[in-house]
Amino acid sequence: MRLKNKTVLVTGGSRGLGKVICTSAASEGATIILNYAHNQKQASEVVSEIEDKGGKAYAVQGDITSEEGVRTVIKEAKRLSGSAIDVLVNNATGPQPELSLEDATWEDYEDQLRFFVKAPLLLVKELLADMKMNRAGSIINIGSDVIQNGNPHFSNYVTAKSAMLGMTRSWAKELGPYGIRVNLLNPGFIPVERHDHISSEAIESYQASIPLQRMGTPNDLAQSVIFLASDESSFVTGQSLTVNGGYTFG
Ligand SMILES: NC(=O)c1ccc[n+]([C@@H]2O[C@H](COP(=O)([O-])OP(=O)(O)OC[C@H]3O[C@@H](n4cnc5c(N)ncnc54)[C@H](OP(=O)(O)O)[C@@H]3O)[C@@H](O)[C@H]2O)c1
Repeated sequence: MRLKNKTVLVTGGSRGLGKVICTSAASEGATIILNYAHNQKQASEVVSEIEDKGGKAYAVQGDITSEEGVRTVIKEAKRLSGSAIDVLVNNATGPQPELSLEDATWEDYEDQLRFFVKAPLLLVKELLADMKMNRAGSIINIGSDVIQNGNPHFSNYVTAKSAMLGMTRSWAKELGPYGIRVNLLNPGFIPVERHDHISSEAIESYQASIPLQRMGTPNDLAQSVIFLASDESSFVTGQSLTVNGGYTFG
């Protein structure tokens, strides 16, 4: 029970990697605040799954790319859990279109920056006062190994994910004196529901290029989230950890 007595807010916790982060953190004793934007049914199912196993979770709807959405999410989260947020996992994502430089517009870049820079910033600003008062907190930014790989035709996404690296380091130095840790966790390609259309040939070809010779699972990422959320990593801040079987280094 590495997260006993901790309240963990996971943005985009209703499916994909966020869902497994929620269920795994709950199994370590955390109270989960599962944020989602659109699909209430999916969010409720994850809450039920956690409750059926004896865990505690609340779903909170809200668009975390808007000031009003963030204010609502944090207010609701604190009301439902009856406590401050100890751990923030910035995980939510919108669509991630792959675009050539000819096709990409500034708005396409802004769309990604809204999720990976604006939303974490708004959320952290709402949580700072409590975390500083408690002199504790763990902020986990979910990045991507594209920041090491520099995937072509994807610069909108790669740029926004890369911004998370500098943001993580600067926040870590600014907030370290208050006992607040900030780290970046970079998954490689880990198939989730939204990747169902990808052919098994494409998956096999990607897998062959991974030194550990297997695909990553959402649980691989969730275990690293638990480490960074828990007191086991109490002297780790400002770091970038990549979970991709050795596909990239850095
Ligand atoms: N899976 C991978 O291979 C991979 C690889 C590298 C990095 N990542 C990163 O890992 C994170 C999770 O990715 P994923 O593949 O698990 O994504 P996903 O399956 O598409 O899930 C996205 C989640 O974000 C929520 N969401 C969408 N718009 C939102 C908004 N405006 N406000 C709040 N929540 C919103 C969705 O809820 P609704 O359905 O209710 O909208 C859903 O719960 C992302 O940051 C992604 O960039 C993933």
